[in-house]
Amino acid sequence: MVTEWVEWSEAEAVSKWDTALTALPNYTLYQSYGWGEYKRRHGWAGSGSGNDTTAMAIRHPSIELISLDISEGVYHTYHRTTGLSNVHVVRASVLSIPLKSDIFDFAYSYGVLHHTTDPEGGLREVVRVLRGGGVVSLYLYEDHADNPWKAIPLRLINAIRVVTTKLNARLLSGLCYLLSPFVVLVFSIPARIMFRYQTTRRLAAQMPFNFGNSLFSLHTDLLDRFGAPVELRYGREELVALLEACRLCNLVTTKLRTIAGWAARGVKGSEVRS
Ligand SMILES: C[S@@+](CC[C@H](N)C(=O)[O-])C[C@H]1O[C@@H](n2cnc3c(N)ncnc32)[C@H](O)[C@@H]1O
Repeated sequence: MVTEWVEWSEAEAVSKWDTALTALPNYTLYQSYGWGEYKRRHGWAGSGSGNDTTAMAIRHPSIELISLDISEGVYHTYHRTTGLSNVHVVRASVLSIPLKSDIFDFAYSYGVLHHTTDPEGGLREVVRVLRGGGVVSLYLYEDHADNPWKAIPLRLINAIRVVTTKLNARLLSGLCYLLSPFVVLVFSIPARIMFRYQTTRRLAAQMPFNFGNSLFSLHTDLLDRFGAPVELRYGREELVALLEACRLCNLVTTKLRTIAGWAARGVKGSEVRS
């Protein structure tokens, strides 16, 4: 098994993005990791309420998309994709995918495995359903170990999560909605200003929540941060170890400054049969 890996810089990854098609960051990530080469059947593990599934299915009607999530979000996906014959929706856990092995050409999982109790088991499942030579593309949270600006607030958030993960979902959603404008004012707007100047650009890149672009734009990020029962984070070494443990090869990793996490891509060796 070949386990060599390379790192794309964010600039390289961005250069591969077709931003003219859509401004969706998830879309551009999906785009940048090679979907175009694998145009038959794609699996989406943890598709939430189907934003990306819907956009992709409309844009690429020749690709068959199987969209899987453990939550009630699948019902939104189902209703949103009514009339799109290339989409199939499955409510199930990525830790135990109720599908045959070796059936996908491309698998995509954006911000999901780090919320499960067994990311390696989940990734093994994703690899199992991929055909040999198929590509998996992931987004996972980074641990910010090299950035005290983010690591320290993260510790604080983790302490608060002990309480917030137990709150009623609607109450928490309301609180995150109210909190979003404050976080945007304190972090995102100063960071946007600082990004404009050479001397402060590096600092801006290290600031937490530097990506908010309107007052309530951080609602879902905050909800994710405070509400997800499990939240694991990865440094580069752990990320590569995870991918290698699942017998992926030709690994590519990119640290995404804009959305504070790792984009990772790997290929299922054609000699690996599930
Ligand atoms: C942060 S959301 C990301 C959703 C979507 N990928 C997106 O980018 O909008 C995380 C998703 O992971 C799903 N999830 C968590 N654990 C899961 C599991 N074991 N199996 C499948 N989905 C899971 C949640 O239900 C949620 O929809």
